Amino acid sequence: MIGDQNDIRPEKIFITRNHEEACRITGGLIVDASKTAVRERGVFHFCLSGGSTPKLVYELLSEKPFSDQIRWDITHFYWGDERCVPPDSAESNFRLAYDALLSHIPVKEQQVHRIKAEDPDIDKILHQASSQFPEQLDLMLLGLGDDGHTASLFPGSFALNVTEKKLVLVTGPMPPNPRITITPHMIDSARNIFVLATGKSKVRAVKNALEGEWNPDQIPAQFARRGIWILDKESASKIKQ
Ligand code: 6PG
Repeated sequence: MIGDQNDIRPEKIFITRNHEEACRITGGLIVDASKTAVRERGVFHFCLSGGSTPKLVYELLSEKPFSDQIRWDITHFYWGDERCVPPDSAESNFRLAYDALLSHIPVKEQQVHRIKAEDPDIDKILHQASSQFPEQLDLMLLGLGDDGHTASLFPGSFALNVTEKKLVLVTGPMPPNPRITITPHMIDSARNIFVLATGKSKVRAVKNALEGEWNPDQIPAQFARRGIWILDKESASKIKQ
């Protein structure tokens, strides 16, 4: 079984000149994924990434030429993870997407499936947020931490071995520590996975995620290995071309 997993190869790797170009390419790929989903199923279930990297992608999606090409009226938004902070906190992944994209496009509240991670009743929130996910996401957009984490699946976390839940509460190694994250099953089951990772701080994580011995307990981003990876020259500098 392990041998098979070492044979997993990315669907495609884009190596771009810089962060801006990587974000523009990611925007175009998201448009394409949305068109396929709408054509085949009449809906686009889009799971957003947190962190700072995708901010420019969300800004690009909110304006022409991208914004005119996506059927926002039948797009549903989810999050791969959320910090346990209020939605108006600068640390909130929801706020990142709201400020950069959601507040600029015509979407209804019932299309935005925010994880209400600020609510102290975590069991209620986990159940509520998990029940909102579709059977299969059309697109899982992920970032990459310097340590190889993705979403809030950190190296060595118990969450990496959870199979019977869609979301779990974890304590991350960096503030804000308490976070709610998808489990690996949600990555495995997504129709499309896009990983956007740029800059020299990601070099080691990119190399380990794409070419390292299969070891997702220490390199959680390997769960996304089969996806489309959008890199720049810096983050891709150690992988075999
Ligand atoms: C989060 C993200 C996380 C992020 C990476 C990379 O909530 O922080 O889900 O997985 O994608 O930590 O963060 P940057 O994009 O800021 O480098």
